[in-house]
Amino acid sequence: MAPTKTLLRALAGEILPTPPIWMMRQAGRYLPEYRATRAQAGDFLSLCYTPDLAAEVTLQPIRRYGFDAAILFADILLIPQALGADLWFVTGEGPRLSTIQSAGDFAKLKGGADIHDHLGPIYETVRILAQELPKETALIGFAGAPWTVATYMIAGQGTPDQAPAHTLMTEHPDVFDALIDLLTEATIEYLSAQITAGAETVKLFDSWAGSLKGDAFTRHALAPAKRIIGELKSRHPDVPIIAFPREAGDGYIGFARATGADCVAIDNSVSATWAAKHVQSDGCVQGNLASSHMVTGGQALVDETRAIVQAFQGGPHIFNLGHGITPDADPDNVALMIETVRATETV
Ligand code: CP3
Repeated sequence: MAPTKTLLRALAGEILPTPPIWMMRQAGRYLPEYRATRAQAGDFLSLCYTPDLAAEVTLQPIRRYGFDAAILFADILLIPQALGADLWFVTGEGPRLSTIQSAGDFAKLKGGADIHDHLGPIYETVRILAQELPKETALIGFAGAPWTVATYMIAGQGTPDQAPAHTLMTEHPDVFDALIDLLTEATIEYLSAQITAGAETVKLFDSWAGSLKGDAFTRHALAPAKRIIGELKSRHPDVPIIAFPREAGDGYIGFARATGADCVAIDNSVSATWAAKHVQSDGCVQGNLASSHMVTGGQALVDETRAIVQAFQGGPHIFNLGHGITPDADPDNVALMIETVRATETV
């Protein structure tokens, strides 16, 4: 049956008069109602693992703005935790994990199919959302791509240049490859379970793909995405998949064709006109307004939003930011962006 929700129609390749809109990190600290529910949960991880509250924060931006899609509220670092790594968040700094730097560290992790007990609450959040979302709103599940998740597991925290992961790749390629393999298997299991629970599309976040170049990009960003997408397509042939190899630059070209992704999400380090020419020629694209406009607003936000809608009007497009919205964003600027997208004439 042909999909009716606008997000799913764009993912199926349809060119719509107005692109569907959602926003990375749309449930987040820029919203007072998110901050209130997070305070009720106590901390970020408790919020992720309490299905009623995770569903509530997922629904908040839908109620406030009427986005065309909701993204499951969770985090890409729940997979390492499900595999047995320690995970905690330091307020004002970010995630911390036990590190994987040797064969001995790797051997302590569980198998890729052993994650489901730990992740049961996440699947429950998906089930609640599948019931509670408005009928026109699509539900997006997600996971981190193996490389990006591995960068956090290896370093034990976020790093500006992913140096510890590059070092392990060079000095202990057997450990590095085994970790990427394990994460690939776990990601297939995790996304497949989200789909079974009711996710209508899934997105693979490779936030640090841009630090892989040449052969390393092919081996550690493209190949795992291809394996994950291939396996998900064989289990769930009708479910579209969005890939986000952030800051891939030229690596965006042909990424959908090479991996089987239905849509490639584009960050704002490349222009919309470039992406329309080189990436949208293969199918649906998502993006790519700089998230700083959600802080600064004004005429620049309006002009840039219009330019993006117009650049992508010749093919299937989902409007989004180039990366997640930041905590200092003004909620009124989000409303202005949505109003501008929906009022922009495409001819
Ligand atoms: O987009 C959404 O609204 C869905 C939920 C979602 C979160 N994280 C919630 C979150 C998604 C899709 C993610 C993905 C994620 N998490 C990525 C990939 C996308 C990207 O941003 O590049 C990465 C790298 C992470 C890891 C992570 N989680 C970091 C580095 C941090 C700390 C930095 C920060 O922004 O605080 C988090 C925490 C996090 N994940 C928050 C949210 C709403 C903020 C936590 C809080 O409430 O304090």
